[in-house]
Amino acid sequence: MEDLDKLQTHFVEATAAATSLDMLEVIRVDALGKKGQITGLMKTLGGLEPEARKAAGQALNAAKEAVAEAIEERKLALQDADLDHRLEAERIDVSLPARPAEVGHIHPISQTVEEIVAIFGEMGFSVAEGPHIEDDFHNFAALNIPPEHPARQEQDTFYLPERADGTRRLLRTHTSPVQIRHMQAHEPPIRIIVPGRTFRADYDATHSPMFHQVEGLVVDETTHLGHLKGTLIEFCRAFFMVDDLPVRFRPSYFPFTEPSAEVDIGCSHEGGVLKIGAGEDWLEILGSGMVHPKVLENCGIDSTRYQGYAFGMGIERLAMLKYGIPDLRTFFDSDLRWLRHYGFVPLEAPSLVRGL
Ligand code: PHE
Repeated sequence: MEDLDKLQTHFVEATAAATSLDMLEVIRVDALGKKGQITGLMKTLGGLEPEARKAAGQALNAAKEAVAEAIEERKLALQDADLDHRLEAERIDVSLPARPAEVGHIHPISQTVEEIVAIFGEMGFSVAEGPHIEDDFHNFAALNIPPEHPARQEQDTFYLPERADGTRRLLRTHTSPVQIRHMQAHEPPIRIIVPGRTFRADYDATHSPMFHQVEGLVVDETTHLGHLKGTLIEFCRAFFMVDDLPVRFRPSYFPFTEPSAEVDIGCSHEGGVLKIGAGEDWLEILGSGMVHPKVLENCGIDSTRYQGYAFGMGIERLAMLKYGIPDLRTFFDSDLRWLRHYGFVPLEAPSLVRGL
């Protein structure tokens, strides 16, 4: 049994000296594996006399357990060390600024919508939406545009094929039908903006058959023209980030508002470069007016009690002016080089606090 003691000492020492889990596994197989040395001694027991077999068996079992225990202990220690080592090696400084790999850009249309929503959100407006495919009632009739009205021709409407009942649905030509849908479904007070796609058969450097608008609608018992002016002046100044931006209200006509006004902002064209701000020129940027009483009545709202204002603007046009994009058609070319140039970094969400 002296040999057994030596063997046990040998394995326990080797175990203590092992510096990796792999080394430890080699030792375990050498001692306790199927062809291991201690396992080998176990196999010789069968050839002994019963008394001797019992003593040798006990000694062998004790040695086996001692070696197994030593290995297990060492294994836990090595695993701990391994983890410490990894934690040290993979350490990151969470206080460093994030520098994500550049994977994509926010399209200027999305960015501009976010900016507009941030400004009106701050003023207490919420966002409403409606369908792209509309019927005559919501897109025209309820907005006080009867069948013979010239505004129908002006808008170059895309119609869908005639249905069995003779009606034709259409792609909405403006976001104003969402005014109607919202008033039908909600009681005043109403204070919404409606960003969305709109469609007209038109195509050149400043027109695309699909484009975007933002509609605004406020209805309650006390709102008047002064609120319309104040809100839109504030909006223009916040959006173009020019505190003293001149804003002009020019009498205009829309069937669904009375009175109506188009809104212009001041600009200059010095040296052929367009600059937004005080100057000799004006740029038209949106349409607005007090909601026509007939429109309120068409939606079941008592026009002797409620009144409000509405406005609508083209998002591409706003984005082109703010970011100096010369051709509207390029918005929808899906050219990645264009997007890299005019796009926005995803993490920089616009807000009035951080800046637009
Ligand atoms: N719907 C009008 C257009 O598309 C814009 C507008 C909306 C004007 C609301 C006044 C009030 O031109």
